[in-house]
Amino acid sequence: MTFLYLMLRSQLFITLPTPSSDFSKQTIMITGADSGLGLEASRYLFWLETHVIFAVRNEERGLAAAENLTSSTGAEKAKVSVWHLSLTSQASRLDTAIQNAAMDNGSWLALTRDGFEKNLAVNVINPAFLGRLVLPKLRQSAVENGVVGRLELVGPALFRLFKFEEQNSHGKLLEALNCPETSIMEDRELANAMPFSEKSPVVITYVTPGSCDAGIVRKDDSSEHTLIGGLIKSVAMAVLARTSEQGSRTLVDAVRPDVLKESHGAYLRDC
Ligand SMILES: NC(=O)c1ccc[n+]([C@@H]2O[C@H](COP(=O)([O-])OP(=O)(O)OC[C@H]3O[C@@H](n4cnc5c(N)ncnc54)[C@H](OP(=O)(O)O)[C@@H]3O)[C@@H](O)[C@H]2O)c1
Repeated sequence: MTFLYLMLRSQLFITLPTPSSDFSKQTIMITGADSGLGLEASRYLFWLETHVIFAVRNEERGLAAAENLTSSTGAEKAKVSVWHLSLTSQASRLDTAIQNAAMDNGSWLALTRDGFEKNLAVNVINPAFLGRLVLPKLRQSAVENGVVGRLELVGPALFRLFKFEEQNSHGKLLEALNCPETSIMEDRELANAMPFSEKSPVVITYVTPGSCDAGIVRKDDSSEHTLIGGLIKSVAMAVLARTSEQGSRTLVDAVRPDVLKESHGAYLRDC
């Protein structure tokens, strides 16, 4: 009931503020930046004169999206770099990483080469590894430049609806999550493992953009098995959903320069 109330209030009655903070000295890496919320958040960051690093799996698409943003925003002072998601490149400075890339197939998918169910790998396991990979760079940059670093994990709010019974699997959590019969998707928590400190001045947050008319919802075909399911989804989206542009405001808001250590470990929604 609380979830439903919060969801309806958020989607129907809250107007998200347009980002306007000064990002001109910042370098921000964003994963999945070539479409949906990632693309729209990047557009705002461009307007706000940020150095944006697109971390994408398809460099060609990343370059095309970056070029499109540069010409459509006309933001002369903004700079863009395109990295392959493997993080093999090094930037001289990295203030913030926005881990936005994700997929939602709505059903159990075959194991990846690494042996994890695909949704679990793309949305949970590999973002957690990526977060740990990028943290030393965020720390180093924050300490060297005397600023606060930020790591933002983007994801849904729907986990609140689930019981997460796998937590009782007695040391076999991954096996339970990998299993098609018992798997229930759960999210990640890095902040407790990486406390904010003088040596690690990096604020880690989890952000949900609410329900948006963006790629992940459009691509989700789980409700299209029945006519009724598809109809309910279309009506719900028409009435409730934010646009990608509106949803992307939450991604930018959570990494404002004045978001400080009080927000470490916070679950953020609605700006
Ligand atoms: N839309 C919503 O209503 C909603 C609601 C709650 C939370 N969210 C969260 O918001 C974020 C963005 O969602 P969206 O709707 O904007 O999605 P989207 O348009 O589908 O964009 C997802 C991005 O993730 C990338 N991606 C997917 N699988 C990947 C992989 N295996 N490796 C690397 N990159 C991969 C995609 O790259 P390609 O272009 O190469 O496929 C794309 O750039 C997600 O974290 C999602 O959980 C969205």
